[in-house]
Amino acid sequence: MAYSTPPKYDPFSRLLHWLIFALLVAQFIVAWTMPGIHRGTQPVGLITWHLELGTAIVAVMIVRLIWRAVRREPAPVEGSAMLRSVARLTHGVLYLLLIAQPLMGWANASSRGWSLTLFGVIPLPPLSAEGSALGHEMGDLHSALAWGLLGLIGLHVAAALYHHFVLRDGVIRRMLPGA
Ligand code: HEM
Ligand code: HEM
Repeated sequence: MAYSTPPKYDPFSRLLHWLIFALLVAQFIVAWTMPGIHRGTQPVGLITWHLELGTAIVAVMIVRLIWRAVRREPAPVEGSAMLRSVARLTHGVLYLLLIAQPLMGWANASSRGWSLTLFGVIPLPPLSAEGSALGHEMGDLHSALAWGLLGLIGLHVAAALYHHFVLRDGVIRRMLPGA
């Protein structure tokens, strides 16, 4: 059955969804245009932008996780139980990666002895000791996992477009503005 008015996510969930989307678009562009980070690199210019955008993403994701725990989920759109499970799994892993991946970058930044702030003002604690091997490994994992995150986002967007253009079940409107 096609929905003319599908049950929507609440306005705050929609705001958080598109805020994270905008922050991630900026973050991927900055990540792949900033200078290479090596031993002794100083956190200046685009690298500072990467760190500031990254810690902002962690902060917004924490708000999003709390909101997800307390909000009321909209009723699911009718469809196959299998597709619904795949969607739930994809959303769950997206949440997981959007917390774990930036924390790994943070641990790497700490191991380089860089001090971090939230929004340029609130000092943040180090997540690993300066020079730590763990922080170093986390940096490699962070850069590699960024591809996994991008792949999953690609799958998610493809699913949204499939719903819109093939199934025509109104799912995309659940995340769009309007009553
Ligand atoms: C979801 C948020 C984030 C995304 C998508 C992301 C993405 C990336 C990507 C793609 C790279 C590799 C760049 C290259 O190929 O040269 C990278 C490197 C790096 N990122 Fe992030 N990042 C995020 C959050 C953070 C945060 C929160 C921090 C620290 C506070 C951070 C610190 C770093 C550092 C230090 C590197 C260099 C790692 C190394 O080469 O050892 N990132 N990031
Ligand atoms: C950075 C990119 C994106 C991320 C990380 C992301 C993440 C998520 C997450 C975690 C959810 C679950 C809802 C929640 O718990 O708040 C969701 C739902 C949704 N997203 Fe995205 N999203 C992204 C981009 C997009 C784009 C570009 C579109 C549209 C083309 C889109 C359309 C939707 C729709 C329609 C839903 C609701 C699905 C349902 O009703 O089950 N998303 N997204």
